[in-house]
Amino acid sequence: MALLFKSDVDRPDSWIPALRTALPGMEVRKWPEVGDPAEIDYALVWQPPEGFLASLPHLKAILSIGAGIDHLTRDPKLPRHLPLVRMVEPGLTSGMTEFVVMQSLFHHRRLLDYLDQQDRKVWRELAPVAAWQRRVGVMGLGELGADAVDRLVRLRFDVAGWSRSRRALPGAACFAGQEELPAFLARSDILVCLLPLTEETDSILNAQLFAQLPKGACVINVGRGEHLVEQDLLAALETGQIDSATLDVFRDEPLPPDSPFWSHPRVVVTPHIASMTIPETAAEAMAEAIRTLEAGGTPPGLVDLARGY
Ligand code: GLV
Repeated sequence: MALLFKSDVDRPDSWIPALRTALPGMEVRKWPEVGDPAEIDYALVWQPPEGFLASLPHLKAILSIGAGIDHLTRDPKLPRHLPLVRMVEPGLTSGMTEFVVMQSLFHHRRLLDYLDQQDRKVWRELAPVAAWQRRVGVMGLGELGADAVDRLVRLRFDVAGWSRSRRALPGAACFAGQEELPAFLARSDILVCLLPLTEETDSILNAQLFAQLPKGACVINVGRGEHLVEQDLLAALETGQIDSATLDVFRDEPLPPDSPFWSHPRVVVTPHIASMTIPETAAEAMAEAIRTLEAGGTPPGLVDLARGY
């Protein structure tokens, strides 16, 4: 059996040995040395070229190096009949939770204001707000969202989650579906977007949504750039409807030098690093997914393409 690894952003010198250790008996090949395409059973990929997966005639399953699978579904030639497995691995999950917690605390403790004061050599205390008085709302309650909610609850924030179908998460109020979105937004002082990118969620962070948040809310987008209507956020920052934002993902990556976000005083920009797949734990998770598929089972992260995630 052979597995092909393809990514231009993940380090093959860590991945290839990790995959060989996790999958003894599997031949691991590194793009672009595909060899005979008919010999590839599994493809572990990030942003493969359009049509490439369809050119592997005996492919048994597609494994995504990222939690998101929009880099695959945008390929019109994606072999949709094959099992597609998103990355579910502890390194990616805890990395995302760290980032969400860090940024929630950053906005909660008004670090932007204190950094601004530092610039101006101003020594002034701002009115404190207790964590349980700060309402954090997490959109998207999959593997990543649920873990972030758990940690935010343990920090004693007043946490709610919103998802397409109802989830039950200890310590958090769970809202579901379009009809409960307004109530969820109305109680989100800090809004975290961890949604999958689908037709329904494309451009969901828009002017109409921002208007339903409490005035002066913060937005943390760690989903996809396409979730956000960038002009709408800039306008909401201008009026103060949104106080500040953390953006890790953008429609155009790398973020172009002329983007107003780079120098916006109320925006934290990071280069799509909120969480990274960790080769050692990810290779183990993918090996387990392959064993499960070979045994005819359902691995964690198996995507329902009809649903889009
Ligand atoms: C990163 O963006 C991922 O999908 O894991």
